[in-house]
Amino acid sequence: MSNIDYSSKIPNNVNLQDDRTLQRALEGWLPNYLDWWQDMGPTGSHGFDVYLRTATSTTPDGWATFGHVKMPDYRWGIFLAAQENERKVNFGEHKGEAVWQDVPGEHRANLRRIIVTQGDTEPASVEQQRHLGNTAPSQYDLRNLFQVNVEEGRHLWAMVYLLHKHFGRDGREEAEALLERRSGDADNPRILGAFNEETPDWLAFFMFTYFTDRDGKFQLNALAESGFDPLARTTKFMLTEEAHHMFVGESGVSRVIQRTCAVMKETGIEDPAELRKKGVIDLPTIQRYLNFHYSVTIDLFGADQSSNAAIFYSSGLKGRYEETKRTDDHALKGDGYKILEVKDGALVEKEVPMLNALNEVLRDDFIKDSAGGVTRWNKVIEKAGISFRLTLPHKAFNRHIGTFANVRVSPDGRAISEAEWALNVNDWLATEEDRAYVASLMGRVVDTGKYANWIAPPAIGINKQPVDFEYIRFN
Ligand SMILES: [Fe+2]
Ligand SMILES: [Fe+2]
Repeated sequence: MSNIDYSSKIPNNVNLQDDRTLQRALEGWLPNYLDWWQDMGPTGSHGFDVYLRTATSTTPDGWATFGHVKMPDYRWGIFLAAQENERKVNFGEHKGEAVWQDVPGEHRANLRRIIVTQGDTEPASVEQQRHLGNTAPSQYDLRNLFQVNVEEGRHLWAMVYLLHKHFGRDGREEAEALLERRSGDADNPRILGAFNEETPDWLAFFMFTYFTDRDGKFQLNALAESGFDPLARTTKFMLTEEAHHMFVGESGVSRVIQRTCAVMKETGIEDPAELRKKGVIDLPTIQRYLNFHYSVTIDLFGADQSSNAAIFYSSGLKGRYEETKRTDDHALKGDGYKILEVKDGALVEKEVPMLNALNEVLRDDFIKDSAGGVTRWNKVIEKAGISFRLTLPHKAFNRHIGTFANVRVSPDGRAISEAEWALNVNDWLATEEDRAYVASLMGRVVDTGKYANWIAPPAIGINKQPVDFEYIRFN
C-alpha cells in the first residue's frame, strides 16, 4: 500500500489498477490536465531538467526522492497517507463512530463543496505564478518555484481523485471545471478572492508562499481531521509537501531582508528612496507587501460567524487545527468564543457560540502561527543593528469578508474614517509605485551560483546541495 507504482500511467498507492472504471476516468482526465499545464503552467519551463523531489512512497524515507526531471514529464500521482486501523470520528455529532470510507449520503453536497473549494486553490496558484520563472533571481529560486508548482499540480490530482472516486458524474464534472476556471478571469474566476490576485514579482511570491500557503496548511490540517477517511488521508500527505512551500516563503523574505540590511549597514543609508538607488527593497516596502498578503490571506478563512462552519464541524467533515490535541468535549455545544465587532466606532469583543465561530478559531490559530516567521525576520534586522521592526497588522485591517468588510481599520487596530484611510493607505499597502519599483529589480539570473543583487544567497542549498549547485539544466 505504501509503495507507489510508477510503471502505470498514473503513479498511485491506491491500487488504481483494481478499479478499471475509475482508472479509465482518471486516464481520461490526464490529457486535459496536461493541456492545462502546457497552457497555464510555468512559462518557458518545458525543456528544462529541474532538480525536483518526487514522492516514491508516503513514508518519511521515500516521499522526497531528488533528481533532475524534465518538467512536463514530472510524474503527478495519487498518494494517500497510510490508513489507520480502526480510526474513529474525533469530533461533532458522530464522535466515536468509525470513520467513513465512503461518502455518507446526507453529507455529500457539503463534502463535495469542501473538496472543490480546496482543489480550486491548487491550480489557481500555479496560474498566479506562471510568469515568475522569467524573472527568477537564481537557479536555486527557480527550482523552488517549480517545486512548488509541480506539487500544487499534484494537490489538484489529490482532490480530483476524491471527486472521481466518490462523487460519480457530479465529481467528474467538477474535475473538468477545475481545469476551466482561471485565476483572475472576469467571467470564470477561481473560487476564492486571494487566488484571483496577481503574483507579479518575487517579493509577492515569497509573501504568498509564507502567508497564503500557510492558509493551505491550516485548511489541510482541519481536513486531515475529517471523518471522511480518504479526505483525511490525502490531506495528511499534502501537508508534508506544504511545509516546503512555507519554507520557500519564509526564507525568501528573510534573504530579501538580509540583503537590504547588509546594504543599509555598508552604506549607512536609511532613507528608502536612497536605498532604492542601491537596488535593494527598503524595509517599509516589505512591510506594505506583508500587510497586503496577510490581510488578503486571512479573508480566506471566511466570515467570522458562519452556520456552514458549524455544520461542517458538527457533521464530522472538517475539524479544528490539532483537533485531537485539544482537551474539550469536541462537540462544542454551549461553548462560546470571542470575536470582534465594531460598536460606536470602536472594535469591541463579543462572545458568540463557538460552533458558529469556527472560521475565526482557525483564523486565530493561523495568526499565531504567522507571527513566528515575523519574529525571525526581525532577528535578521536586529542583528544588523537596525531599529526598524516588521509587524503583522491587526486582523481587522483591510478585510473584505466578514464583519470588517465595510469598515476601515488601521494596521494598529483603530476603526478610522474613510478620510483617514485615504490619507494613509499608501503607507499601509503596497502602492503602484512600490510594485513598479520591485518589478524594475526583477531580471533573470540563471548563471549557476549567481544571485540577483536584491536578495542574499541561501545559507544552504536544497537537499544539502551547495548553493552553487546546478539546480536547473537549461539544455
Ligand atoms: Fe497545495
Ligand atoms: Fe502550497
